Amino acid sequence: MSLLLDEVAIAAARLAEAGVESPRTDAELIAAAVHQVKRGELHTVPDSCFDARFWSEIARRAAREPLQHITGRAHFRYLELEVGPGVFVPRPETEVMTGWAIARLRDMDVAQPVVADLGAGSGAIALAIGQEVPRARVHAVEADPLARAWAERNITRYVETAPYTAGRVMLHSGDFCDALGELDGTVDLVISNPPYIPVGASVPPEVGEYDPPAALWSGADGLTAIRAVERTARRLLRPGGLVAVEHGAQQGPAVYWVFGEGSGWRDTRNHKDLAGRDRFVTSVWSTEPGAAAR
Ligand SMILES: C[S@@+](CC[C@H](N)C(=O)[O-])C[C@H]1O[C@@H](n2cnc3c(N)ncnc32)[C@H](O)[C@@H]1O
Repeated sequence: MSLLLDEVAIAAARLAEAGVESPRTDAELIAAAVHQVKRGELHTVPDSCFDARFWSEIARRAAREPLQHITGRAHFRYLELEVGPGVFVPRPETEVMTGWAIARLRDMDVAQPVVADLGAGSGAIALAIGQEVPRARVHAVEADPLARAWAERNITRYVETAPYTAGRVMLHSGDFCDALGELDGTVDLVISNPPYIPVGASVPPEVGEYDPPAALWSGADGLTAIRAVERTARRLLRPGGLVAVEHGAQQGPAVYWVFGEGSGWRDTRNHKDLAGRDRFVTSVWSTEPGAAAR
């Protein structure tokens, strides 16, 4: 075995002791980032290539700094995004909801579907839709200037690598409750991963100490922002338009009722993430009489 792989094994044991959830994976990914190789190529790094940064970065991870802040990168579907202090690290569960939206948009009989992403963070959802549904026009709204700076950087980087995408993902500053008024009644799909943790709930250090508070907390029941997404979606969507909103694993029934039938929504459904937990709700903005009455 190579010296580096020996070191990775020792580092993984140290991360496990520190309570890190996937210690071996994280130690390998840190080693790969330090030596600028793919994870599967670690055995090719010569023993002479010792780099002290590996152990300093392992120490940061053992102190429960998120892996993505240490490597500066997060992977989301087919994207590599820049992340760091001030922005929410995109999660795998959001990839599932985004995949649902991409499939619906591809099926949609609309030349250039208009999408609104409420609470853009790093730009993960908006950019994934822009990349995988090139005919879509995606409007991403973000209130937090620090998060917006990361989104701007990711959008710029993305357009540099794929110039044909210029102008297809647009970032807007402000509160999504009153943003995008010029699109009222015309949006084909609203998607959001809003803050949804009840104030005072316990979260791991990687989340509580590093994800921005505006990305996490949302009132006593965790549903304040989801209710705001529902109100914004009913304003933005055209009749027959779709909404998808992410929520916590225990919030499926409550969010189902936020999009209650009889209040203008139809075909409301709960969806699970890859771990089989309730994770997002989708609904269709109805054209039934009285639909917009609430
Ligand atoms: C959980 S993060 C999700 C970020 C990104 N969409 C993702 O999935 O990785 C929620 C984001 O919504 C933003 N946000 C929260 N409330 C907002 C509001 N009322 N208007 C605009 N952005 C908001 C936060 O600043 C944060 O960046």
